[in-house]
Amino acid sequence: MDAHMNGIRMAYEDRGAGPALLLVHSFPTRGAMWQEQVAALEADYRLLVPDVRGFGKSDVPPGPSTMEQYADDMAALLDVAGVEQAVVAGLSMGGYIAMALLRRHAARVRALVLADTRATPDTPEKREQRETDARLVERTGAAALAASMVPNLLAPGASSAVRARLRSLIEGNDPHGMAGALRGMALREDSTALLAAAGQNGVPVLLVVGSQDALSPPAEMRGLQRSIPGSRLVEIADAGHMTNIEQPAAFTAALREFLAVLR
Ligand code: MLT
Repeated sequence: MDAHMNGIRMAYEDRGAGPALLLVHSFPTRGAMWQEQVAALEADYRLLVPDVRGFGKSDVPPGPSTMEQYADDMAALLDVAGVEQAVVAGLSMGGYIAMALLRRHAARVRALVLADTRATPDTPEKREQRETDARLVERTGAAALAASMVPNLLAPGASSAVRARLRSLIEGNDPHGMAGALRGMALREDSTALLAAAGQNGVPVLLVVGSQDALSPPAEMRGLQRSIPGSRLVEIADAGHMTNIEQPAAFTAALREFLAVLR
């Protein structure tokens, strides 16, 4: 489906019926990365699954795509879908977007699932690296970025089928959309205090991390969990950064258990 909002056309899936769950994908994939979770949960939940601006079948606007813009798009999507409040689950960049949604549109967030992500902003070195990567992807295309990223995104033991699937989720994307996301991620705010306050105010928060996540390692996610009162952390064995793709059954089970308590 398509929706027009905030000057762009956004493609999204709207599946199932029941309490609403908004699934926000990582960088540099697209909504289809949630395929297994959609198949497992659509009998019991209404799943809203966008391709965020610059990715998948959505429009690719020029310039950096900030977490604030993505978050405003998510709020607009909830408006289009007629959903007042949703459980918001985001993996990595999807987590950054979920945090920005909480900051800007707190009333729309019933609960948060933050997978393989971090609350802290980029270091100056990381910002420089993002700009280098943005220029690289603009020059050489999505396939080159996919080839350089895939090994870091997955556990060393990931199967060739999982590797191929991840590559195909990345390669279909527009290089300019990827560059916009890289530049937008470099601009993001620190969400540590925001998440701590949300926990204090009773917003349910589930954290998920792959035991072999090299990008947002378990030790860092444990630190985040300690800073959010009432939050829970589920560590998924034999998974790297892309927990929901690498261990879909374990990821979905963690999600289902969390959602069941909210009903
Ligand atoms: C992601 O998986 O979305 C990225 O690792 C996020 C990032 O580059 O910070």
